[in-house]
Amino acid sequence: MPKVTQTGSRKNDHIRINLEEDVRSGLTTGLERYRFIHQALPEINLEDVNQRLQLFGRKLNAPILISSMTGGTDQAMRINYTLAEAAQETRIAMGLGSQRAAIEDPSLESTFQVRKLAPDILLFANLGAIQLNYGYTIEHCRRAVDMLEADALILHLNALQEAVQPEGDTHFAGLLDKIYQVCQALPVPVIAKEVGWGFSESTAKRLAEAGVAAIDVAGAGGTSWSQVEMHRATSESQARLAAAFIDWGIPTAESIQMIRRATPDLIIIASGGLRNGIDIAKCIALGAKMGGMAGPFLKAASASLETTIEVIHEIQREIQVCMFACGAADLEQLLETQLIEVD
Ligand SMILES: Cc1cc2nc3c(=O)[nH]c(=O)nc-3n(C[C@H](O)[C@H](O)[C@H](O)COP(=O)(O)O)c2cc1C
Repeated sequence: MPKVTQTGSRKNDHIRINLEEDVRSGLTTGLERYRFIHQALPEINLEDVNQRLQLFGRKLNAPILISSMTGGTDQAMRINYTLAEAAQETRIAMGLGSQRAAIEDPSLESTFQVRKLAPDILLFANLGAIQLNYGYTIEHCRRAVDMLEADALILHLNALQEAVQPEGDTHFAGLLDKIYQVCQALPVPVIAKEVGWGFSESTAKRLAEAGVAAIDVAGAGGTSWSQVEMHRATSESQARLAAAFIDWGIPTAESIQMIRRATPDLIIIASGGLRNGIDIAKCIALGAKMGGMAGPFLKAASASLETTIEVIHEIQREIQVCMFACGAADLEQLLETQLIEVD
């Protein structure tokens, strides 16, 4: 049974705070400023709408990703197993939370190892990119991928979160070159991901040049990690520092477009504040390949496997009806679909 380490207690804090507190960003995703053009005569049959796709060698039934969340404790393991079973049942993609705890204590590996429950899904390993400046090497990245039999490695970038927590790792200088080296050496694609503040045009360009295969936006408008850290703060002054950043970040809709401008051919995974299938469809129309959600799936998995599967089916139906009503027969057509920007 996994023991409760310092990292473990932080992971349990994260789950509890995300489930019990209001940790929403003060910003919105910006997606509310876009509307599809309704087609009264779609000239397709609802049941023929095709939202399947192929990514990194795996087939998905829908452009939905369960965003990276957790691992390392008993509670996290239950959540991961539930999410993986639901992802396998519905054939959507899934990311695991940062595997640092299991790299440092192999007895925790089982809390992340969901491949046996989800043999067919697109599965992402996850490490904090910053660990590459604190002793992690290509070998650690390889171990994270092998541990999960993952199809790709997410390196998450969480500079602001690290900066507002007392134990934060904040030596970010020289990190890009290390990311480049990982991209060169790993046998699987590397995805750069934020955790809720998005990517600017210049950062996206540098990451693409470093060789990442995709960027997971994780823009502002959903879960705010400065708000989560505010709830974990052990002093008033630290809580005030974190609280000051409630409105920080690049909203998801803006960040997708910045990345698209910077690197038109790079695969974009949209996430950060997406809350239904229409949000995901809008992100695809703006240029993303698929959409991820974290907070909503954490709540569903904490309820039950049935609830999680139901939530996924609902999102899938929302995407289907949305595509039908704007006359997009498949995801390529959805990508070509025009959105109206409203003030
Ligand atoms: C409980 C919890 C734990 C998370 N842990 C990680 C993590 O270990 N690695 C990571 O890349 N992102 C992590 N995230 C961030 C999410 O993947 C996502 O980028 C962010 O929450 C924004 O998405 P949302 O608004 O749909 O929640 C976590 C999110 C939650 C809710």
